[in-house]
Amino acid sequence: MDYTFDYFKKSADYVRQIVPYEPEIGIILGSGLGNLADEIEDRTEIDYADIPNFLVSTVASHRGTLICGRIGGKRVVCMSGRFHLYEGYSYEQLVIPIRLFKLLGVKNTIITNAAGAVNTDYSVGDVMLIRDHIKLNGESPLCGKNIDEFGPRFFDTTDMYTASLRKTALECAEGSGLTVHEGVYMFFTGPQFETPAEIRAARLLGADAVGMSTVTEALTAAHCSMPLLGISVMTNMAAGINDGKLMHEEVGEAAERISAELQNYVKRIIERI
Ligand code: HPA
Repeated sequence: MDYTFDYFKKSADYVRQIVPYEPEIGIILGSGLGNLADEIEDRTEIDYADIPNFLVSTVASHRGTLICGRIGGKRVVCMSGRFHLYEGYSYEQLVIPIRLFKLLGVKNTIITNAAGAVNTDYSVGDVMLIRDHIKLNGESPLCGKNIDEFGPRFFDTTDMYTASLRKTALECAEGSGLTVHEGVYMFFTGPQFETPAEIRAARLLGADAVGMSTVTEALTAAHCSMPLLGISVMTNMAAGINDGKLMHEEVGEAAERISAELQNYVKRIIERI
């Protein structure tokens, strides 16, 4: 499909009609991390299904609502439930959430995800601030006709995971009760977990964690010059590191175990941005 600027504007116009203020911070919540949305005060919830030209979340643990309100005194717009390639969406469709944020006036975006730890110095329950990513499979979400209103055809990704936001997040880690690293996130399409051989390859390439989301959103943010903070929660050691099979349930359980600390951590970051 040939997307136009007006295609994206239609979603934003709908949301703006319900929520008349400009949110400063956009938040996208990953698998098992939806509790963070409970922190939002003075909230207005909009079902994804009601937003024209938006997508619908198909993962059971993802809620599928856009929540606008306040956290730590800041206006936020939060996606509780995100979209993944493995759900059957095209790369091109996966630009939709960040472009909505951009058109709503969002200045900084925070993305969280569940990830498998590749770095054997990491433990389940640790947090990794994404310093950079590796995406070697599939096309870019920015393929297709460029929409100049969002950004240039060719764009830089050097500071895609914004250094100043990572610095703030590292400072907030102190006293959070969380172990916070900085590292490289490697994208795999899923829905299957990676093979042990893929994980060994990922480690050789310099990955610290693997996951099935985030990079499409990060690239869309870089294209429209939106500062971004990526926060991965290590919900399991990646395939082949420990004995036993990987199960989706353990992802949710591990995220649940640190959800209170993580909620406070992200709240502190939002207050400081
Ligand atoms: N691999 C890919 N995505 C994930 C994993 C994993 O091990 N854990 C949580 N999301």
